[in-house]
Amino acid sequence: MNINVLYGTETGNAEMLAEDIAAELEANHEVTAINLSDFDPANFDADTLYLLVCSTYGDGELPASAQPFAEKLESEQPDLTGVHFGIFGMGDSEYEETFNGGPKTLAELMIARGASQLGDRIAHDASGTDMAEDIAFPWAEQIVGMADETIGQAA
Ligand SMILES: Cc1cc2nc3c(=O)[nH]c(=O)nc-3n(C[C@H](O)[C@H](O)[C@H](O)COP(=O)(O)O)c2cc1C
Repeated sequence: MNINVLYGTETGNAEMLAEDIAAELEANHEVTAINLSDFDPANFDADTLYLLVCSTYGDGELPASAQPFAEKLESEQPDLTGVHFGIFGMGDSEYEETFNGGPKTLAELMIARGASQLGDRIAHDASGTDMAEDIAFPWAEQIVGMADETIGQAA
């Protein structure tokens, strides 16, 4: 099973985490980390697992690198039936009302196009005590385990 770690970032935190996740999974899988700004939604593939890592910017919005991707999802309406993804959000609870709003929007857009979310959406809090990678590595392993069953069976 191929894995693409797709990241949406404004100042690089989600990119760093995505690359760390990719390095962690590389021992057992073919893994590529790609900026959402370089990924065309027409290229989603049902045999690949997508791990989305996305921050929140502005007032609960998607970070700059995820915005063209989100716009394409809305304007081109690709059919993502059969596509599986997990999603790890980065935000800060100092922004109370808009905490992790970006990844929430991203997950909703993917699901609206027919994609299936594996596991719960994680909402990491930069003001909390946990390091993002301490939560993200076990999360990634868990989603890969779920995908091995789901995507493996479909193939
Ligand atoms: C100007 C600014 C606005 C932000 N707005 C939000 C927000 O509305 N909600 C939230 O949960 N986090 C918000 N954050 C926190 C970022 O999501 C967090 O710092 C994240 O690690 C940034 O990741 P990035 O470097 O990949 O973009 C904001 C941060 C900045 C600097």
